[in-house]
Amino acid sequence: MVKNEKRLVMALVVVMVLFLSLLIANGGFQQTIPADPDDAHTLEDEDLIVVGFSQLGSESVWRATHTQSIQKALSKENGFFLQYSNARQKQENQIKAIRGFISQRVDYIVFSPLMEDGWETVLTEAKEAGIPVILVDRKISGAEDLYTTFIGSNMEAEGRKAGEWLEKYEQSKGTEDEDVNIVVLTGTMGSTSQRGRSSGFEKIMSQHQNWKVIGLTSGDFTVVKGKEVMAQMLSRYDDIDVVVSQNDEMTFGAMEAIREAGKTTGEDGDMILISFDGVRDALELVKNGEISCDVECNPLQGQLLANVIKRLEAGQSVGKEYFVNELVFTKENVSAYLSNRAY
Ligand code: AHR
Repeated sequence: MVKNEKRLVMALVVVMVLFLSLLIANGGFQQTIPADPDDAHTLEDEDLIVVGFSQLGSESVWRATHTQSIQKALSKENGFFLQYSNARQKQENQIKAIRGFISQRVDYIVFSPLMEDGWETVLTEAKEAGIPVILVDRKISGAEDLYTTFIGSNMEAEGRKAGEWLEKYEQSKGTEDEDVNIVVLTGTMGSTSQRGRSSGFEKIMSQHQNWKVIGLTSGDFTVVKGKEVMAQMLSRYDDIDVVVSQNDEMTFGAMEAIREAGKTTGEDGDMILISFDGVRDALELVKNGEISCDVECNPLQGQLLANVIKRLEAGQSVGKEYFVNELVFTKENVSAYLSNRAY
């Protein structure tokens, strides 16, 4: 009797051990543990592509649209888990955010560099951790092996388009041989948008000995700074023919300063304005003639970014740079685009 009981117990133990091994092998315990809401979240997100995105700031309508475009495209529904960080115009904040993404071991680091220089150390750390880096909007200087690809605007082409427009404008007025006094309001110094737009415009300017930059200063891509530096220019020079303002925000500020100085803009005004970005409010001013030319900078880069990441996930090759399509808006063509402008 005792012997039989022992056998029964042994048999039960063997069955239990077999059952438990099968359960563990199939991951069965995970389902049987009562789920903490956070754990459930983690399990559910396991298949998502984790992307750390460091945005440089929120200085403009353009920037807000750029951020939203990326947040919308890299959504959970589309298979992504996005960690967003706003650097508030400070390079050290971007470096800190990137280091945070590296220690979290995200699948991809996406970032829009405030300026071009100063990224070697942190991007080398990302490379050593095996995390691909994708640049959006702006580029970095130096080592191309520190990033996988770039998605954004051709800033140099934007600058050239502005110069080419001015060239044609002067010809259409028959003033191509007269002196043209130009004031340039640049964006954040050392950024791709500032460097590219400046060098593109200078290329066209070098073909016109009568074009003179009488004043050049940074308005940091903001309304407040744009107004401040334009007021300084107006107090220094009373013969400004053209203002080249490297984004719409600075243009809005500059226009306030011009108005307050009792001057006007436009073909029949005291000076003409060339701007960059092409946000809705600026396009309204192109329509009424207060801004003569607005070179588009396209912030809708999210979908292209999502496509590139999906290609990388599938083990496919990607190009080193992808430029978004961009137009030049003038009084002649702007109405066709205004009705659909979402930002
Ligand atoms: O780098 C793109 C530029 O940055 C846009 O022209 C401007 O509006 C933004 O701040």
